[in-house]
Amino acid sequence: MIRGKYTDIAKLPERDGGVVVIRGHIRANRAGARVGFIEINDGTRFAGCQVVYDSVLLADAAKHPVGAAVEVEGELVFTPESRQPFEVRADKITLIGGCDADYPMQKKRHTLEFLREIPHLRARTNTFSALFRVRDTLSAAIHEYLRGEGFMYVATPIITGSDAEGAGEVFGVTAGGDSGFFDRDAKLTVSGQLHVEPFALAYDKAYTFGPTFRAENSNTPTHAAEFWMVEPEISFADLEDDMSVMEAMVKHCVSAVLERCPDEMRFFNDIIDPKRELIARLKAVTSPRFYKMTYTEAIAELERSGADFKFPVKWGLDLKTEHERFLCEQVARGPLFITDYPKEIKAFYMRQNDDGRTVAACDLLVPGVGELIGGSQREERYDILLARMREMNIPEEPLRWYTDLRRFGSVPHSGFGLGVERFLLYLTGIGNIRDTIPYARTPGRLLF
Ligand code: 4AD
Ligand code: MG
Repeated sequence: MIRGKYTDIAKLPERDGGVVVIRGHIRANRAGARVGFIEINDGTRFAGCQVVYDSVLLADAAKHPVGAAVEVEGELVFTPESRQPFEVRADKITLIGGCDADYPMQKKRHTLEFLREIPHLRARTNTFSALFRVRDTLSAAIHEYLRGEGFMYVATPIITGSDAEGAGEVFGVTAGGDSGFFDRDAKLTVSGQLHVEPFALAYDKAYTFGPTFRAENSNTPTHAAEFWMVEPEISFADLEDDMSVMEAMVKHCVSAVLERCPDEMRFFNDIIDPKRELIARLKAVTSPRFYKMTYTEAIAELERSGADFKFPVKWGLDLKTEHERFLCEQVARGPLFITDYPKEIKAFYMRQNDDGRTVAACDLLVPGVGELIGGSQREERYDILLARMREMNIPEEPLRWYTDLRRFGSVPHSGFGLGVERFLLYLTGIGNIRDTIPYARTPGRLLF
């Protein structure tokens, strides 16, 4: 963008050299007897820019500490033979904002646990700069894929009257402690699915994409109390159609991130992934078909493995992360769809299969993470849906509007939900969901 005299560091490669003015934060400052080097980063690209200054002429520059904001005027010089392809030879360095000595990020590297306590500052580190850039690219790629396929973007509510998953893991909403603001108990949404279904039934394909909230008291590296979910919903579509969209969307997003964030992905590959295989692993998922197996086959596979699981395996078990990871890491060695789960462990709205004991649901599992996507064909048959709700003690009255859709021109339809933070774990090799979202909300800790 154009802003007075400044040039974004990201735009420097497009210039022909000459005098430029840049500004940003100091990442490092090494002053020698004759020349000094400032690593300056303005956040417009992953790598910043090296500034070279004369330690005698610009003696003050040597005193500018790490973390300070400065403005640099100088000559842009291209240095294709060296590690950084360009640098700025400073004529003038002005301190814009000093930095107190207790700035917590003085060192070159900090642990992720340490940085978790300073979410307002960690965005300035390489790891989080890479992470949030990939997150931004991923969000754009999701919208782009769905819009390209003709999905309408719908803003479903965050305050709702229903527990979409029927799992009872809801946060309540009150007005200053008083729950009488609305005419019924209000909750933060656990999923926009129920509210987006009417839009898919009106506009053929629709999606919602926003924050969702779950009061699951599970302190795991893959669960957050607030996370972002994209939920596409498709009319006249069965589970197979649904899985085709999931697979194409995942592949589109993986390719987009690899293509548009090469520096960030190289960083994750070389610094975060212990085996330095991240990029190769992601490239490998963009072409072949994802594996599919039924839940019943998955159970047989787990039983046959003889592996020692914490939760014993038997038909009917709600697969845990250990089982999910075993199946995609050891059996499929890549993304894996598991389909046709027992109806007892799945939500009330999923379409019952003819066998009477499973539903047309699927999860997409990925190595290193486990469940990335949960989806299903929806029960479009009024009587069967109502009977299932009664069996599961789901109050009918609050969901009358939802069941009505099955009386007024019901059509087969399907959809899914993909957790953005889980996708980021997969894309970056970062191990903890707390490090994939700007301000993590997990049990026991609400920072800022
Ligand atoms: O499998 P889930 O619960 O499915 C639904 O909510 C459906 N209503 C989606 C739909 O069909 N429209 O959640 C979907 C995804 C999971 O696969 C996971 O990626 C993510 O949301 N997710 C979480 N991510 C982080 N922290 C949590 N506590 C999560 N719970 C679910
Ligand atoms: Mg699920």
